[in-house]
Amino acid sequence: KPRVLSGIQPTASSFHLGNYLGALQYWVTMQDDFDSMYFIPNMHAITVAQDPKELQHRTRASIAQLLAIGIDPKRSTLFVQSQVPEHAELAWVLSCITGFGEAGRMTQFKDKSAKQGAENTTVGLYTYPVLMAADILLYQADQVPVGEDQRQHLELTRNLAQRFNTRFKKTFVVPEAHIVKGTAKIYDLQDPTAKMSKSASTDAGLINLLDDPKVSAKKIRSAVTDTEREIRFDPEQKPGVSNLLVIHTSLTGTPIVTLERDYAGKGYGDLKSDVADALVEFVTPLRSKVEEYLSDRGELDRILAAGSERAREIAGKTLARVYDRVGLLTR
Ligand code: TYM
Repeated sequence: KPRVLSGIQPTASSFHLGNYLGALQYWVTMQDDFDSMYFIPNMHAITVAQDPKELQHRTRASIAQLLAIGIDPKRSTLFVQSQVPEHAELAWVLSCITGFGEAGRMTQFKDKSAKQGAENTTVGLYTYPVLMAADILLYQADQVPVGEDQRQHLELTRNLAQRFNTRFKKTFVVPEAHIVKGTAKIYDLQDPTAKMSKSASTDAGLINLLDDPKVSAKKIRSAVTDTEREIRFDPEQKPGVSNLLVIHTSLTGTPIVTLERDYAGKGYGDLKSDVADALVEFVTPLRSKVEEYLSDRGELDRILAAGSERAREIAGKTLARVYDRVGLLTR
């Protein structure tokens, strides 16, 4: 079986709808056809300041959310990055074949460091994409399901794999980004030209999966649309309505063309109210499942122990080969 690998940061108390529609829903479906490895990149999380207790809790809560959406630990390897030391070890080697300017061109780094100011920007934030490349290359992943905002990091990962393979010897699979066009970028409900993100200036346009469903339904009913009345998929002219249609089709499975036909003659209020209903139906059982998984700390930690053991088996082999090729003495 080909291999799929992906990760999601534990930097919020809840995953959001953009995470789920852009990436996580594909993690679940890809379990059927791939050898799947999914993990929580908690070492990426500390590239910006974190409260230590919160970070530990959010890491477990992230695992609970993955289980609740349908990641099956019997079929997928589920693990936490810091429990597999090979990630940091490979990242060091890769950082030594990454150009300083090459890393500096990453737009996510440029955006984040501009926002924080040079004084508050760490070297860790700068080398973040190199650690991400290590995450992927350690496992010889074929496919990496992510949203649009990770495309450039995947491009860097591919370049580093190819560079290492030519400079030394064929060592890494060159991975492909699995980015699904229709859902690659879910937009903020209040500013439908910006991606839905936990770091937006207000959370009025952000749907957290674990929030009170009533709060989320209200946010959907207050979503920004436009001054026309027509319900039509047209991301250029009608970004707000189009975003709602994407969310609708993703949650209900009804194709967008069918939705356009069904809503002919109806108003934005009808669309919003149906999207809100679909969301409530999706998150209500999810929230109680997360609670259940979180209440059994022993079981969570057993899943992680088994996951990191399997991950280390694969990662250790890749790392040993890398060290040997580069000329580093191994353990
Ligand atoms: P993170 O934790 O920010 O986001 C997790 C996933 O959610 C996607 N996503 C979105 N998709 C569509 N619309 C949105 N508004 C939206 N917001 C977020 C992201 O693209 C991502 O797929 N660097 C990664 C974590 C990472 C990783 C890896 C991923 C670390 N190592 C190795 C894959 C492979 C990140 O910060 O994702």
